[in-house]
Amino acid sequence: MSPQFRAPKGVPEYVPPASGRFLMVRETLSAPARLAGYGYIELPVFEDTALFERGVGESTDVVSKEMYTFTDRGDRSISLRPEGTAGVMRSVIENGMHRGGLPVKLWYAGPFFRAERPQQGRYRQLQQVGVEAIGSGDPALDAEVVALADRAFLDVGLRDFTLHLNSLGCAQCRPAYSARLREFLDGCDLDEATRQRAQINPLRVLDDKRPEVQEQIASAPLPVDYLCAECAQHYDATRGFLVDLGVTWQESPRLVRGLDYYTRTAFEFTHPGLGAQSGIGGGGRYDGLMSALGGPDMSGIGFGLGVDRTLLAAEAEGLHVPDDAQVRCFCVPLGEEARHVAVSLLGRLRATGVGADMAFDSRGLKGSMKAADRSGARFALIIGEEEIAAGTVMVRDLVEGTQEPVPLDDVVVRMMGSAG
Ligand code: HAM
Repeated sequence: MSPQFRAPKGVPEYVPPASGRFLMVRETLSAPARLAGYGYIELPVFEDTALFERGVGESTDVVSKEMYTFTDRGDRSISLRPEGTAGVMRSVIENGMHRGGLPVKLWYAGPFFRAERPQQGRYRQLQQVGVEAIGSGDPALDAEVVALADRAFLDVGLRDFTLHLNSLGCAQCRPAYSARLREFLDGCDLDEATRQRAQINPLRVLDDKRPEVQEQIASAPLPVDYLCAECAQHYDATRGFLVDLGVTWQESPRLVRGLDYYTRTAFEFTHPGLGAQSGIGGGGRYDGLMSALGGPDMSGIGFGLGVDRTLLAAEAEGLHVPDDAQVRCFCVPLGEEARHVAVSLLGRLRATGVGADMAFDSRGLKGSMKAADRSGARFALIIGEEEIAAGTVMVRDLVEGTQEPVPLDDVVVRMMGSAG
């Protein structure tokens, strides 16, 4: 019988055991930021539509085509958040966080919503781990943020990813560059939609992946060649700090991000195992965003890492991502008296922080051992009549295939200490 209801189209659902791996990836991606002094921020999942229009940019695909926007019961235009940076900025201004010590360093995690055409790795509800560091233009901070993302992917175990780096210039040098690029694009044979895009934001055309466009713009002027002295110095300094941090990257002078707020440092991590959706994370500096949202003129830099895509990339590399809910031992009681011993043992194991489960419903040895195998536990703790009489538990190592009787009173300590 086919189910009457299904999850919405394009929304990935994580159920055990994949959900355990999802949690593990999300935890691993956020750990480097927590080690670097970033505080957690829990943001609203929806905000005023105008926040994203003004913050992310009305001409971006994300805002103009992909937002889930609706009118609430108070006749306000509300949108599900398509990304996190604008919301963080709103919150920093509203809570006056920028009046304390600078930079304000924050991290967040959760679902974001974009009405994109669903395909492998491209979802309508996507999960990110992000950071934002606000109130400092120090290039050492650019390097810190890039390195945190790099560390996060390495800690998941990924090896095949590439970090692409570029500088997009600032309010001083960008206008002259944009004008020069627009002039160049005017001389190209582009379709009408691309031509219009060139008028609104010519930089976006640089990033067009279609071969016919790439061919035309092969000799287009590039942002790095038009950086003002401050931007060039900032880019050089950022790269110097990245060398200090041992981060390797590829210069990608055509890298342009899909959101309008970026200035200076822009970066993206790609992975070859995902097909068309190769971006596993990205970010950059945004000099004018805070003032555009009514705050003081402060710079910031951050990133968003795609949790769904990182999990796919890990699978593509054949990595073993451990299941966060996996228990260490699994009790197999044989008989009613043994069930009492098992329940009591289970309570003591869990109280000391050892993950433990048991076979319910008196299934007998064969059925219980099957359940033990399925649980992924390293050890089966078998308790039968003989063990009860001897005051022991049969500890079976499910990986090695060995077993030995252990005095009941020693089992908890043994399970805490044994490797595996
Ligand atoms: P973004 O590049 O739009 O940046 O998204 C960041 C990451 O989210 C992408 O690299 C990708 O891994 C993941 N992602 C985006 N869209 C989808 C989708 N439809 N399905 C699955 N994964 C997706 C931002 O959102 C910026 N707020 C990042 C940032 C923070 N920049 C500065 N601070």
